[in-house]
Amino acid sequence: MNNQLTWLDKAIFYEIYPQSFYDTNADGIGDINGITQKLDYIRELGCTAIWLNPCFRSPFGDAGYDVEDYYTVAPRYGTNEDLVTLFREAHKRDMHVLLDLVPGHTAVTHRWFKESMKAEKNVYTDRYIWTDSVWEEPRGMGCIRGISERDGSCAVNFFSHQPSLNYGFYRPDPDCKWQQPMDAEGPLATREALKDIMRFWLKAGCDGFRVDMAGSLVKNDEESKGTIALWQDIRRFLDGEFPGAALVSEWGEPDKSLVGGFHMDFLLHFGPSHYNDLLRCDEPYFSRRGRGSAREFVAAYRENYEKVGGRGLICIPSGNHDMDRLARRLDPAEMKLVFAFLLSMPGAPFIYYGDEIGMRYVENLVSVEGGYGRTGSRSPMQWNKGLNAGFSSAPEEKLYIPLDDSEDRPNAESQCADICSLRSEVKRLIAFRQKHPALQSRGSITFLQDGYPLVYERACASQRIRVVINPSGEEAAVSDTGGTILYKVGNAAEIKGDSLYVAGGTAVFVEA
Ligand code: NOJ
Ligand code: CA
Repeated sequence: MNNQLTWLDKAIFYEIYPQSFYDTNADGIGDINGITQKLDYIRELGCTAIWLNPCFRSPFGDAGYDVEDYYTVAPRYGTNEDLVTLFREAHKRDMHVLLDLVPGHTAVTHRWFKESMKAEKNVYTDRYIWTDSVWEEPRGMGCIRGISERDGSCAVNFFSHQPSLNYGFYRPDPDCKWQQPMDAEGPLATREALKDIMRFWLKAGCDGFRVDMAGSLVKNDEESKGTIALWQDIRRFLDGEFPGAALVSEWGEPDKSLVGGFHMDFLLHFGPSHYNDLLRCDEPYFSRRGRGSAREFVAAYRENYEKVGGRGLICIPSGNHDMDRLARRLDPAEMKLVFAFLLSMPGAPFIYYGDEIGMRYVENLVSVEGGYGRTGSRSPMQWNKGLNAGFSSAPEEKLYIPLDDSEDRPNAESQCADICSLRSEVKRLIAFRQKHPALQSRGSITFLQDGYPLVYERACASQRIRVVINPSGEEAAVSDTGGTILYKVGNAAEIKGDSLYVAGGTAVFVEA
């Protein structure tokens, strides 16, 4: 099960929301060729891998998380050949690409769903979860009903236009005949269809998948035993045909996802992780006001870490297309310390496009493609000071989402030229991580203090590095550090006698 991939051990991911990254044909929407053209920018930053948000045919009711055809790149982004070129150009640069796999639901416009809505039985009748009568709702799931010839209501997985694919029920309720067991013909066919999609793109040259809502597939599965078994079966298929395929889950429970065969799991910004106590609340821990708390985050992290026996493969993102930009609550100096943290934690770090330059959350936007409050974090990448911030040469009103219109909006070109910029610091921190195995994905972590400063030790067989981060405005002292200061971000740090003094707004790495 999940044989380790060495590239993943040192991977630093860059998440790309394709519609907003770089537009090469002046239609106002980013495209695959645009990503290929910007690979050198990503590589130069130090990132070694890409997570590409869904780029397949879709009615775009949920920005592409409503897939209409898993096998075809959405024309607005280009062609399948363009995507294959992206894989090839990434590989030339020793980079890897994960596609976003959405196994839990499709768009209502998917051919499977259209067939499934028909009254007459066909091979897609059981591809989705349908009750036997339009008047019966699938309990606890929300549904689509009243639009099919078929008499039934169909369970949904997220928005009400995203019908749930049928992988079966772990414990079908005997009173609900429509709940099929996992090994019934329909659920098994869905599973094989999923394998076919994976096979198609792995053959085309992708390196694996970030899996959307990976824990949601099997229903009536409180302990996730069915879903874990399903992923184990998929991992066996991959090990047989594509042993190098990487799997990273949006699940947030590494004790389940890693057992299911995922290489790494994401720390989620919702649920019990307390991740946003650090970054996105009224008093974030990383604010220099120093009124936040990392305590509950550390406790939750530790609990997960222990549950998986110290396999710290929990990926922490700087942000993503579902949450506010870091810059909504923190300034560039504060964000430098955030990156000192993110880039010294176990698991692969994920940098959301534009977070490396501190792109802002664009306030008060009307929802675009099911973004709602998330829309402000999905605005076009700011490349330079030129027209449309260098994102596109289309007329401004044609841009997919309006740009941050502030005069001092950050841009990549200026920050690349300024050694004091956030981006330059992120680049140095990445290079520092890449030189020190203790700081990488598989090094162990021991938290030593969870107040101000936050102190933890990262270790591997050859090295021990203590990380001390003091986001507050006040100097802090840590005793018993010893060793030498390897690197510092922010203001000042000094070892005097047996103590390390860390000025406010400073992070320091000490070799023990
Ligand atoms: C999680 C994705 O990140 C989000 O953008 C999407 O809306 C839901 N899953 C549904 O697929
Ligand atoms: Ca375009």
